[in-house]
Amino acid sequence: MKFGYFDDLNREYVITRPDTPLPWINYLGCESYFGIISNTAGGYSFYRDARLRRLTRYRYNSVPLDCGGRYVYLRDDESKEFWSPSWQPTRHELEDYTCRHGMGYSVVGSSFRGIEAHTRYFVPLNESLEIWQLTVTNRRTTRATVSAFGSIEFCLWDAQDDSNNFQRNFSIGEVEIEDGVIYHKTEYRERRDHFAFFACSRSGAGFDTQREAFLGHNRGWDKPATVEAGQLTNSVAHGWSPIGAHQVRLDLAPGETQQIVFVLGYHENPNDQKFDPPGSQTINKKSVKPVIARYLDSKAADVAFDRLREYWNSVLGIFQVDTPDIHTNRMVNIWNAYQCMATFNMSRSASFFESGVGRGLGFRDSNQDLLGFVHMAPARARERILDLAATQLASGGAYHQYQPLTKRGNNDIGGGFNDDPHWLIVGVSAFLKETGDWSILDEPVPNDNEPGSEVPLYDHLLRSFRYTLERLGPHRLPLIGRADWNDCLNLNCFSSTPGQSFQTTTSKDGKVAESVFIAGLFVHAGRELAAIASHRGRSCEAAACLDEVAKMEQAVLQHGWDGDWFLRAYDDFGDKVGSRECKEGKIFIESNGFCVLAGIGLEDGKAARALAATREHLATPHGLVLLQPAYSKYYLNLGEISSYPPGYKENASIFCHVNPWVMISETRLGNGDEAHDYYTRINPSAREEISDVHRCEPYVYAQMIAGRDAPTFGEAKNSWLTGTAAWNYFAITQWILGVRTTFDGLQIAPVIPASWPGFTARRNFRGVVYEISIERKGVGNRIALTVDGNPIEGNIVSPPTDNRKQVLIKGILG
Ligand code: GLC
Ligand code: GLC
Repeated sequence: MKFGYFDDLNREYVITRPDTPLPWINYLGCESYFGIISNTAGGYSFYRDARLRRLTRYRYNSVPLDCGGRYVYLRDDESKEFWSPSWQPTRHELEDYTCRHGMGYSVVGSSFRGIEAHTRYFVPLNESLEIWQLTVTNRRTTRATVSAFGSIEFCLWDAQDDSNNFQRNFSIGEVEIEDGVIYHKTEYRERRDHFAFFACSRSGAGFDTQREAFLGHNRGWDKPATVEAGQLTNSVAHGWSPIGAHQVRLDLAPGETQQIVFVLGYHENPNDQKFDPPGSQTINKKSVKPVIARYLDSKAADVAFDRLREYWNSVLGIFQVDTPDIHTNRMVNIWNAYQCMATFNMSRSASFFESGVGRGLGFRDSNQDLLGFVHMAPARARERILDLAATQLASGGAYHQYQPLTKRGNNDIGGGFNDDPHWLIVGVSAFLKETGDWSILDEPVPNDNEPGSEVPLYDHLLRSFRYTLERLGPHRLPLIGRADWNDCLNLNCFSSTPGQSFQTTTSKDGKVAESVFIAGLFVHAGRELAAIASHRGRSCEAAACLDEVAKMEQAVLQHGWDGDWFLRAYDDFGDKVGSRECKEGKIFIESNGFCVLAGIGLEDGKAARALAATREHLATPHGLVLLQPAYSKYYLNLGEISSYPPGYKENASIFCHVNPWVMISETRLGNGDEAHDYYTRINPSAREEISDVHRCEPYVYAQMIAGRDAPTFGEAKNSWLTGTAAWNYFAITQWILGVRTTFDGLQIAPVIPASWPGFTARRNFRGVVYEISIERKGVGNRIALTVDGNPIEGNIVSPPTDNRKQVLIKGILG
């Protein structure tokens, strides 16, 4: 069952009924001001940091589920009936309800008794504000007098404090109203230099700023007393819960359309110019007023919207493909790329499933995210890499997360995840391959943001590599530390206290538990590092690095092979995890996927056997599960992984992030059919028809889909902010379609399904547009290339040496 359809031409998903299984959201904003918005206008906004600069209030996990939003109400001033064109919060039965989620904007609306209304929500480029353009059309044959209301609820900036510190917060709320604009200035009197504003292009009919005055005593957002009565009360909030609400009266002739613009935004003043006049407590509005005035004009808003569309056209235009598979095309050309930008901006902080309070930017997560967005935002990728590396510790270890506002490592979430440092190598390597900007390696980067401790970024990479060499276990495999990529495989934790965090609780400095997954990652990252070193003319370092890689490969083949697949780990007692000897958790995806991806066992057949076992034991129609059999009870020596009921999360769900490792591995063995088959199983667009089962948005990946051990097999959760986005994008574009960035040029090495007659692609790479067309002439993966008509040796196309900006690549595959 579907709840909408893809409009690929407009790059939109059109939701045609409001009762989606879960709120289906979109993101507004692409630089510093952001919001999430659901298909019924729920959601909230923030400036840079979803916890520390939250503008509007959202009630996570509330009832109804999606509570708090950018709500518009309409009231027929003759019949006195009122409703919300976005369905929530009044939930009237509407006609022609649609929500168009597009690239950085959403348009939500409907018709109700002949009054058509749509609101277009978006954040203009380079501004810290959002625009709501409300268009109301009278489709009746008679005149209509209608009141329109726009409303939001202010959050008192710190989203965590806002939801628990009521003894203070009920007394600090403050607002100002000037020229019909509502200014929210809670805590501005003391240390804040920022305030929020909510303006309307046609103020005058009334406003409210105190929630209770607007809603009425003991009422909810579904039935505000003022909207019911048709008149706002011009309340001025002192303490309690400041809101912003504006009323506009419309008189519409039959067929007439009118537009109202609401602007919600954030503004900072220099510390010594906060007040006007100086010494007063009144906000200095000199610099904000022109901004507000500008965007309240619908023409200026239209221009800003067009610029936003152009921005996305150019970003997505960097890579476009045309394959025989519509789901591949749609995800690569539109939604997967778009999701990669969302994960770049948000890391794992703010979604419908991430409250924006708990999590900053993950070290490993952000480095992996680079794989998916580096071609779309190389300058920002560069900055992100340097920020991440600056939080690295002198040991080479990393804070697991850092806060985007301060760019400091976040001690609350701990460290000692022994895979973390390697992802920096993976991220930097992806950046170098994309941009060819080797200067980044010379950038001075401190340890733990300590001034004076700067060393070139390149040295940070060496440290990352050494970190593992200094932490090898009894089998010369990497010690796992607190955990590896799988946060929940806590082999040194032994937690028996209810509620204790597996991530931060004191974990013993174990010298026994080893990770085969980190070994695979080490081999992969080590090879990348060696290539980087030799490019820099450091051939000794490169050779030393490859030497360690070879030793690690041997250790894996010797101690990390279980007979038919790669072991997952050794626990603190030296017992195997992910082995046929285990009662549960006999086989895991991570070590098999990553070891083969790293090229281990390609020569002696172990790679092929590992992938066959993976298929046999882990493949389901909804994707590959993380492990089998699922853990049926809590194991003290394994930790959080066994805390989840079978089939969920790390305990044998289809953890989508790791599926692409197997896709890439299949391509390494030349198995295009298998790789694309796995790709399709979790491709959200290919799952659109079963939206009632899948339940999350059909246009973006979710972190997990419940595994076969769960009663809800096939149900997705935790959509949007997941490493799944980057890895699937990377797998399909670079390994299956095989349009791959390398240090020396663009490699063309498709491993596509046998039935595909070929495909075409356009890739903008280092300022040159490559028009690629691949034609299949046989069933194999061998490729013969011509570049601008001339045959070339091998499959790497070097950048043109003249000024050509357009290059034609033809490939014959077979
Ligand atoms: C989540 C985390 C990621 C981790 C994964 C597996 O996706 O964000 O860091 O690797 O779970 O536990
Ligand atoms: C990762 C895992 C999750 C775990 C969390 C801890 O996100 O996916 O299962 O609970 O890390 O922060």
